[in-house]
Amino acid sequence: MSASDAHRTAVVAGATSASGVALTRRLLEKGVGVVAVGSDAARLAAAYAELDGVDRQVCDLTDEAAVADLAARVRQDHGGADALFHLVGGWRGGKGITTQSAEDYEFLHRTVFLTLFNTSRAFYDQLADRGGRIAAVSATAVARPTAANASYAAVKASVDAWLQAVAQGFAKDEAEAASTAVVVKALVDDAMRAEQPERSFPGFTHVDDLATTLVSLLDSPAAEINGARIDAGRG
Ligand SMILES: NC(=O)c1ccc[n+]([C@@H]2O[C@H](COP(=O)([O-])OP(=O)(O)OC[C@H]3O[C@@H](n4cnc5c(N)ncnc54)[C@H](OP(=O)(O)O)[C@@H]3O)[C@@H](O)[C@H]2O)c1
Repeated sequence: MSASDAHRTAVVAGATSASGVALTRRLLEKGVGVVAVGSDAARLAAAYAELDGVDRQVCDLTDEAAVADLAARVRQDHGGADALFHLVGGWRGGKGITTQSAEDYEFLHRTVFLTLFNTSRAFYDQLADRGGRIAAVSATAVARPTAANASYAAVKASVDAWLQAVAQGFAKDEAEAASTAVVVKALVDDAMRAEQPERSFPGFTHVDDLATTLVSLLDSPAAEINGARIDAGRG
């Protein structure tokens, strides 16, 4: 990206979880402005009570019109987004294929995929114009799905395919932008470790390490990361 860090703005979609707060801290340390988006004003206020300089935006990211309004506000108030980090998640599973329910699949589709579908379309032009970055967190379950997590793996696979399609769009439009999947098995944070000190969390990625990987995308050459699947590493 050519703009200096001081003039960059990153949208963190799904900002109230530990991973959203960790990413926001890293971005602010780097001097990147943050628009923190969540569906609930009270949860956003609680998550960001101790962090100054964050533009908190309440938006249900499953609502196409609300996301279009959000993108217009970001363009008006910040000049546009230089990055869109999609952290909206959720998990539902069963014991096997026959216990995957349509209700759970619908929940996963809406929360995991539809939120990415809406945000990436609404922010695409801003990101393309500004040589921006879009990244979402994929899962090792895509490459190694199990019967128990079949719906989750299928929806995460759709996330990967969508990010690849966005990458092809950026390349076709000759934008210096990049669309990237960052892959984890599972996430862990300090509160989880404190609650279960006896547990080792094998293969989990610490939210601080995920944040470091995501922030590194800002300074990676677009041609190297556009369409890539990057391992976030183990914490
Ligand atoms: N946790 C893991 O072990 C794991 C494993 C593999 C991949 N991942 C991926 O890593 C990313 C981060 O995971 P996470 O566990 O930190 O995420 P998460 O807690 O499941 O979701 C992040 C935030 O998204 C917000 N959100 C949910 N629905 C929303 C909506 N309709 N509109 C706006 N915001 C909404 C929630 O905040 P509000 O409810 O306050 O809006 C929530 O705090 C996700 O993409 C997840 O799929 C996580």
